[in-house]
Parts: sequence; C-alpha cells; structure tokens
Amino acid sequence: MIIKSAEFVISNTDYTSCPQDGKPEYAFIGRSNVGKSSLINMLTNRKSLAMTSSTPGKTMLINHFVINDQWYLVDLPGYGYARRGKDSRTQLREIIEDYILERAAMTSLFVLVDSRHKPQPIDLEFMEWLGENGIPFSIVFTKGDKQGFGKLKMNLNSYKTEMLKSWEELPLMFITSAETGLGKEEILKYIDTVNKSL
Ligand code: GTP
Ligand code: MG
Repeated sequence: MIIKSAEFVISNTDYTSCPQDGKPEYAFIGRSNVGKSSLINMLTNRKSLAMTSSTPGKTMLINHFVINDQWYLVDLPGYGYARRGKDSRTQLREIIEDYILERAAMTSLFVLVDSRHKPQPIDLEFMEWLGENGIPFSIVFTKGDKQGFGKLKMNLNSYKTEMLKSWEELPLMFITSAETGLGKEEILKYIDTVNKSL
C-alpha cells in the first residue's frame, strides 16, 4: 500500500470525542517508550508526525492521524510508566481501557513489546486482559535493530513459548524497526487486507 497522505487530525482524552466519520482505525498500544509513536512515523514516512521522546510518558492523549483520507492510525498513551504519579497513571489507564473496550471504529489493535526483552509480566497481563474482554490483537516486536538476528529469534521464541502456556493459539506477530523500516511492508499490507475485507 502506498501512503499518499498522512495528517494529524485531533487529540482527545475521551474516546467519545474522537472522529465520528466511521473510518476504520488501527491503534497502537504498549508500554511507555516501547516505540508506538516512532512506529507511526516509520509507517507513514514522516519524521515527526507523531511526537516521540527518549523519556517515557510522552504521549498522553488519544491521537488520530488520517491516512490517504481513508483510515486512521491511532497513537495511544503507554502503560506502566512507574515514575508517573498514581492518580495520573490510573487516569491514563482509564483513557486507554475505555478506548479499547468502547471504540466501535477500532478495527485492529497492535500491542507493541520491546524485542530486546524476555516476556514481561506487565505486557502478558495486558494481553490477558484483552483476551478476557474478547479484544483481538496482533503483537509488534519493536526496536529490532537493537540486537542481532540470533538474539531476536531467541526472544521471539521465548515469547511464543510463554504465551502458549495460557493461549490456545498465537496472535499475528510482526518484527519492526523504526530506524531501518523493518516490518513496514508487512504491517501496511496487513492493514490493506483488513481494509479491503470491511
Ligand atoms: P510513550 O509515548 O511515552 O508511551 O512512548 P512511545 O511508545 O510512543 O515511544 P517513542 O516512539 O516515543 O520512542 C521512545 C524512544 O525509543 C525514542 O527515543 C525512540 O527514538 C526510540 N525508538 C523507538 N523505536 C525505535 C526503534 O525501532 N529502534 C531504535 N533504535 N529506537 C527506537
Ligand atoms: Mg508515544
């Protein structure tokens, strides 16, 4: 799929204020600093469409970007940033959970995890929560450029083994790098296929 246009539309704290035009949306969720905003920039070939930072907790709102005037990429705040105060963490959690549970236009959810780490309880618990609520998702392993292929493969295998302890089947998985563009074609192709099936 060719990205002809990518534009920021609106930021919200509440899913009910998000665009109501019914265009399908593809949302990115995951721990703070995992690379959600960077992935949106990589997919759209824009350096700073979504704001990124080396400090966790950059994205605080639900951000809609319209692509080719046909569908949305949605950048969400990250979960699990320990240094944020408890109240603000709870508030962000509510924004994220309400969006995921209630947003009818959300067509596909990508859960981002850092490809450098072994399966982390916070991510596994989040996916369990999605499962309990009947929300389908794919996994995106980010920062694939930060280690060699051997280590990447090892971490992916340990993720699969860990997930198969509680899941009957594995979700779709993508490996990406915002630096090298790894995984871009696969994700865009997947989105294109879903868009055409709607
Ligand atoms: P929050 O908005 O705080 O939840 O974070 P986020 O998940 O949106 O992360 P963001 O895209 O802001 O990236 C966090 C940091 O990781 C930045 O310093 C990025 O440059 C870096 N980063 C993100 N993706 C990659 C990647 O694929 N490779 C490398 N090397 N660095 C990356
Ligand atoms: Mg962000």
